[in-house]
Parts: sequence; C-alpha cells; structure tokens
Amino acid sequence: MKKKKTILDIREIYERGEKVAVLTAYDYPFARLMDQAGIDVILVGDSAGNVVAGHENTLPVTMDEMVYHTRSVARAVRNALVVADMPFLSYQADISDARRNAGRLIKEGGAQAVKLEGGVHLKDTVRAIVDIDIPVMGHIGLTPQSIHRMGGYRVQGRGAGPSDELRRAAAAVEEAGAFSLVLEGIPAELAKRITAELAIPTIGIGAGPGCSGQVLVAHDMLGMSGDFAPRFVKRYADLGEMMGRAFSEYIAEVKEGSFPGEEQSFE
Ligand code: KIV
Repeated sequence: MKKKKTILDIREIYERGEKVAVLTAYDYPFARLMDQAGIDVILVGDSAGNVVAGHENTLPVTMDEMVYHTRSVARAVRNALVVADMPFLSYQADISDARRNAGRLIKEGGAQAVKLEGGVHLKDTVRAIVDIDIPVMGHIGLTPQSIHRMGGYRVQGRGAGPSDELRRAAAAVEEAGAFSLVLEGIPAELAKRITAELAIPTIGIGAGPGCSGQVLVAHDMLGMSGDFAPRFVKRYADLGEMMGRAFSEYIAEVKEGSFPGEEQSFE
C-alpha cells in the first residue's frame, strides 16, 4: 500500500528536480478524485470563500469554516499531503492565536501543514508555528488577504524596489523554517530568480514556469468559475458547461414526465 506523503516526500520530489503538483480542494469528492489521480499536495485554500461560498474575497472566511473544509478533504485523502490555509485574522493579531489556530487545523481538521500569507513581518509567526512542530507553507506576492492594501488583485513585484522587497520576503519565510513557499501573481523572471535563491520548493500561481511546482484553484481549472478567466489559469475541462447541460436535461425530463421512468422505479 502506498503511504501518505509527508513534507519529506515533497522535499525529495524537489531535490530530484521533479515539479510539485498542487491543487485546491474543499470537499470530499474533489479531494478523492485528485488524490486518486496522483496529486502531490492538496491545499485546502481559503479561496473556498470565493469558489464555494460566493464571497467577493477571502476575508470573511472563518476558522470554523476552514476546519470543516479541511476535515472533509482529509477524510478522502490516502496519498497526498494536506495543507490547510489559515484564514484572515487567524494569525495576524498575535502569535499565540496563530499557534492555537494552526493547531486546530492539524488536530480538528486533520491537515499535515498550514499555509499563511505574508513576508518579513510574519517571520516570527512562521517560526513560532514551526517551533511547535507544525510545518508551514509560506505565501507571498499577490496575497489575496491583503486585497485592501494592494487596491485589487494586481501583479506584485514589478520594478526594482518591489522585486527586492519580495526577494527579502522569500528569504525571511525560508529562514523562519517554512518547508515551501507559494509565489502568487508575480513576474515570471522574478519567480525564477527567487526559486534559484531559495533552498525550499516554490509553488507558483500566476508566476510562470520557473517555480519548483504549480498550484491552481480546482474550480478554475475545471471551468466552474463562470466568467472568471485570468491569464494564468488553464482550463483542463469545462465542467461548468457540462453541469449546466445536465441540470437543464433533468429539469426538462421532470417537467415532461419522462423521469423517473420504469428503470428508476421499484416494483
Ligand atoms: O486560497 C487559495 O486557494 C490559495 C492558492 C491560490 C495558492 O491560496
């Protein structure tokens, strides 16, 4: 029987030069299918706030919601490493909060690691969580929880000053003990440079091909996010269209009385 991946397996994948494949999931069926397909890491993202709950941004997502999603995912997973996102205000206010909330995602959610957004100013928080033996995935660049500071979802790190700032942020997160780092929404050249400067795997999203791995939001790559089609997303399927057709067919058959038929009825 194959054993469940740990952060050591992710390290090994990175060291042999293989790319780390990551997808988000928020529930049991999605997690089961991508786990069976061989995904390395499943990220229970706070993007649940957008793609599952229909919020405009990730800020309203709560710890209780993240525990629920993480538990649903962890129940399905046999092979992948499960990383759970720490939602807004679960780690920013103080370090003891951050430790307790990271612990909840492990203890109640069943995750093996947590992810949090931020660079130099979050260094002590990352270290404090790592110090209680909870592996941390960092996340810098376009960090959705900072939407109000950024003034929208914009590519970060363009120009000499901002790109140096991101390089310092990456080094700080690595130094604090993170086992990997998400680079979101930054120029491809900068992502490649940061990847070369670090000794931990970088996981890119909208950061070009030079990262150690890639992550996409599952609903986006499956065509389930309506008109949301940013340049960095590749659609591997159009489930939104398939589901719409199936729903219409069902409604029509119920209306005309052709479902249920004899096959779906009991004697
Ligand atoms: O919440 C999320 O899904 C994420 C990924 C996009 C990296 O943070």
